[in-house]
Amino acid sequence: MNFTEKISLEEISGKRFKIRVIEPESNKDAVLTHYMHNHSNGTSKFYKKDAIEYTKEILQYKYPDESITSIVAEEALQYGLFDTFEVPFPPTESPKFEFIDLFAGIGGFRMALQNLGGKCVFTSEWDKEAKRTYRANFGEVPFGDITKEEIKSYIPDGFDLLCAGFPCQSFSIAGKRGGFDDTRGTLFFDVAEIIKRKRPKAIFLENVKGLRNHNGGRTLETILNVLRNDLDYYVPEPQIINARDFGVPQNRERIYIIGFRKDLNINEFEYPKPTNKDVIFADVKEEIVPPTKYFLSTQYVQTLINHKERHASKGNGFGFEIISDDGVANAIVVGGMGRERNLVLDNRITDFTPTTHIKGVVNRDGIRKMTPREWARLQGFPDNFNIPVADASAYKQFGNSVAVPAIQATASKIIDLLKKTK
Ligand SMILES: C[S@@+](CC[C@H](N)C(=O)[O-])C[C@H]1O[C@@H](n2cnc3c(N)ncnc32)[C@H](O)[C@@H]1O
Repeated sequence: MNFTEKISLEEISGKRFKIRVIEPESNKDAVLTHYMHNHSNGTSKFYKKDAIEYTKEILQYKYPDESITSIVAEEALQYGLFDTFEVPFPPTESPKFEFIDLFAGIGGFRMALQNLGGKCVFTSEWDKEAKRTYRANFGEVPFGDITKEEIKSYIPDGFDLLCAGFPCQSFSIAGKRGGFDDTRGTLFFDVAEIIKRKRPKAIFLENVKGLRNHNGGRTLETILNVLRNDLDYYVPEPQIINARDFGVPQNRERIYIIGFRKDLNINEFEYPKPTNKDVIFADVKEEIVPPTKYFLSTQYVQTLINHKERHASKGNGFGFEIISDDGVANAIVVGGMGRERNLVLDNRITDFTPTTHIKGVVNRDGIRKMTPREWARLQGFPDNFNIPVADASAYKQFGNSVAVPAIQATASKIIDLLKKTK
């Protein structure tokens, strides 16, 4: 067997192989990549047994005439059998701290924390397309549904920081302020459960700004009560942070909740100060945009104008905005006409004919949608970030993601404090 020839794990776990050995919803790719990524630290022991079994299956499939033992499989893994690390953002060589990435999406937290010298030791995300983007950039496949005990059982011990941008849900609380049990059945409960079991030194939660007033403020109050009183963390007042203040031309306000295990005796936390760097849309605008794909037809532009006028007259202000080169984008989100809300003026187009992408004739005013790469840049992802999915998924993924620079600036403050406790 020639272990010097790398195997593409993505290819092998593709359709043909799946029919033979991988059941749907299998964690095998996640286990295997987590094992490889943690080969040089103690965490790999959590994944070793399953990773070797799976490698045996793959080798047996690839070399049907050979007898593959566990020893051969382990050796193959040590020789770097798979192409897992041929990605733009492989793990840090000598990590300064360890973190886990929950509700990972496409890895906005991971990008920020790897930039600070952190090593991700566990990640979970259940959306298939988001997993594809994650793998194409970090070489690791996230585990699936974090509410399942089986998935939680893969989380290693001893990591420093838990990161989670969990979806906002209501708790059914009888009294004014709820506790741990009142959050049962929500995704926050799963986050709290993991904190309770693993006791990381610090936590970094991100959510929509609306969490502050959600259910009359009771949702946030319950979260803070659980973290501070049930789980015994020092949690400073949460802060609304605008991505724009950290170097991207996007007004995106999100609430950040930070916590430190009380025995660390950290009693103060200072959120990062805005960098006050002036950024405008021109800084992220793509130089070359496929002439027809992102431009809108005259007819469609008219539909948007009509829609906006109709809704503005009802006073709810729904509508699109045209962002000029020196402007700042609204928060990018999808849903409804989400990606068509942030339009751009770009009159470099010369071909106004109808195409398969555009129903009707391309407008002469140069009005187009932003491209997925522009959305990536609005969230602070570098240009070597791979976008392996179709545009519709890419918009959803970047719209769901965090703004990397704002997360990084805040995480840097957390890590600085943790360093002092060593
Ligand atoms: C707001 S997004 C977080 C995005 C992420 N912070 C990033 O930088 O891309 C929430 C993510 O949680 C995922 N999710 C929701 N419920 C989940 C579950 N039960 N298990 C795993 N992932 C889940 C969604 O698919 C979505 O990608």
